[in-house]
Amino acid sequence: MDGHSMNHGVDPGSNNFLRACRREEVDTTPIWLMRQAGRYMPEYRALRERWGILDIIKQPELACQVTLQPINAFALDAAIIFADILPILEGMGLSLEFIKGEGPLIHNPIRSADDIERLRIPTPEQSLPFTLEAIRLARTELDPLGIPLIGFSGAPFTLASYAIEGGPSKNLKRVKALMMNEPGLWRALMTKLSTAAGEYLYAQATSGAHVLQLFDSWCGELSPWDYETHVLPYVQRTIEIAKRSGVPIILFGVGTSGLLGLMSTSGADVIGADWRISLPDARERIGPDIAIQGNLDPIALLASWDALKERAQRVLADAAGVPGHIFNLGHGILPETPTDNVKRLVEFVHTPTSGN
Ligand code: CP3
Repeated sequence: MDGHSMNHGVDPGSNNFLRACRREEVDTTPIWLMRQAGRYMPEYRALRERWGILDIIKQPELACQVTLQPINAFALDAAIIFADILPILEGMGLSLEFIKGEGPLIHNPIRSADDIERLRIPTPEQSLPFTLEAIRLARTELDPLGIPLIGFSGAPFTLASYAIEGGPSKNLKRVKALMMNEPGLWRALMTKLSTAAGEYLYAQATSGAHVLQLFDSWCGELSPWDYETHVLPYVQRTIEIAKRSGVPIILFGVGTSGLLGLMSTSGADVIGADWRISLPDARERIGPDIAIQGNLDPIALLASWDALKERAQRVLADAAGVPGHIFNLGHGILPETPTDNVKRLVEFVHTPTSGN
């Protein structure tokens, strides 16, 4: 165990991560890293020799074990449940596979009104019981360490992107075509996806997640007008459903500099910013009432320690003086990341003088 003192349960009054979500003063800036469990860790690669990613996600003991790998290796302030944004689509009737070396593939992507009509909305207990169970298991391990647990879901637009494109896509041609040409179908699809995502987040909170993050990874591909008209209402709907749980909600996207003002009307308590915008500029657009998460370039973790430290210090200095900053990357950690840099980064962020 590395840097975590033993106590019992997570005290929301004194936990730095939970305090930062509520924009309260903290003694050191909390840090966690998107995709903190994953291929850059030898422990994870060892498990992946034997199991596929969906195998790990669907066996709660394994998902719990992977959730704890980065917690055991680094003094991180939060754990994120090991899962993925795409399995929710399986319960809705889509057939999902992760192809080695290529990423996700949906064998029957949405291409017609009938496909949208056929999409089911099972309860999370029916379609994703393994992740809810993994959350309960992870809580029993994390509570003695005083580490809070983050649950997450894909946001409706990013889920629609995979459901329609069938896999990763460069310009999101098909999803944008549906959005622009078929407003009625778009509304039907986005209503179903926001119900499913909202209920899934809510169930994760009632299963034990302290905080929920909504990943809208690809929303930065949209014009502000399309985002406001065709996407934001469904983000708001998702958050409204999840919020009944009472836990803080983080809204994250990539390339969102032009959307941050709109995202601040989503109902989220925390908004993620990537490295393409400075934190003071992001704060200006988000306003004073929402916390900020970010925003180190993940590539900085591949650089020398001196170069990495300089950029981490910049992030801390940019955030200094205003409560409500959670240190994170602007997007997920890369598989090539040296674990030693992660360890040093976490220690650096926790050193009280680092931001000066
Ligand atoms: O943060 C964490 O540690 C929790 C785990 C997590 C995973 N996926 C596990 C995973 C989280 C939060 C996600 C979210 C996710 N999944 C997103 C949103 C975040 C982002 O990066 O924008 C997206 C778009 C996906 C969909 C997805 N899953 C893709 C496109 C891929 C393949 C690309 C890749 O990185 O390999 C995945 C696979 C995946 N999900 C991996 C992990 C650790 C790598 C798979 C492996 O072990 O082979």
